[in-house]
Amino acid sequence: MTQQIIAIDGPAGSGKSTVARALASALGWAFLDTGAMYRAVTCEALERGIDVNDESAVGALAASVHLTTLPRVTVNGRDVEEVIRTDRVNGAVSVVAANALVRASMVARQRQWAAEQRLGTVVEGRDISTVVFPEATLKVFLTASLEERARRRGDEGEASVARRDEADTNRDASPLRQADDALVLDTTGRKVDDVVGEIIACLTNLHSN
Ligand code: DC
Repeated sequence: MTQQIIAIDGPAGSGKSTVARALASALGWAFLDTGAMYRAVTCEALERGIDVNDESAVGALAASVHLTTLPRVTVNGRDVEEVIRTDRVNGAVSVVAANALVRASMVARQRQWAAEQRLGTVVEGRDISTVVFPEATLKVFLTASLEERARRRGDEGEASVARRDEADTNRDASPLRQADDALVLDTTGRKVDDVVGEIIACLTNLHSN
């Protein structure tokens, strides 16, 4: 049987991580937060004083680091679970995520990771349905109003969230884009369980057809 993958994409604060985590838990599947990988590479570049605009230096760094996302986000064995959510990383991660060398390395790791899972996987990010797993069993695109997305991101603020969306959507390398065949869900004002229920219903429907 081919591996089942649910690919979830959407802008910052659209509910991807929360929904993907709850969905994976409900299905008993593995879960991968790919944003945490880009954030961890950013953290390591900042820690080592590497200019995040230096494409080849950051690309080489991305290819060489050891990364984990669960149970904790670590880079070369250093726990960065909290540091990856700081303003400093929020401010630099879009540049790192726009680096094609970094993306090539992260995408290869994501595919390798998924291939190693025994059961299905839920993977969330920006390019999961369009680039990483275009053959995913189910593709989901989450949206929400900017106001609600900024609220969910706590201290980050509307301006920073909007700036990151703009950078992620308009970059050359794998920009945030809705796959043509994605289930599009607006999570504004909706409960997590409700959204998860709708995705599971869609998955069940796929299998019964
Ligand atoms: O989902 P997040 O906010 O943790 O993502 C952090 C950054 O990484 C965000 O600016 C977009 C980028 N990203 C990406 O380009 N591709 C992914 N698959 C996941 C995240």
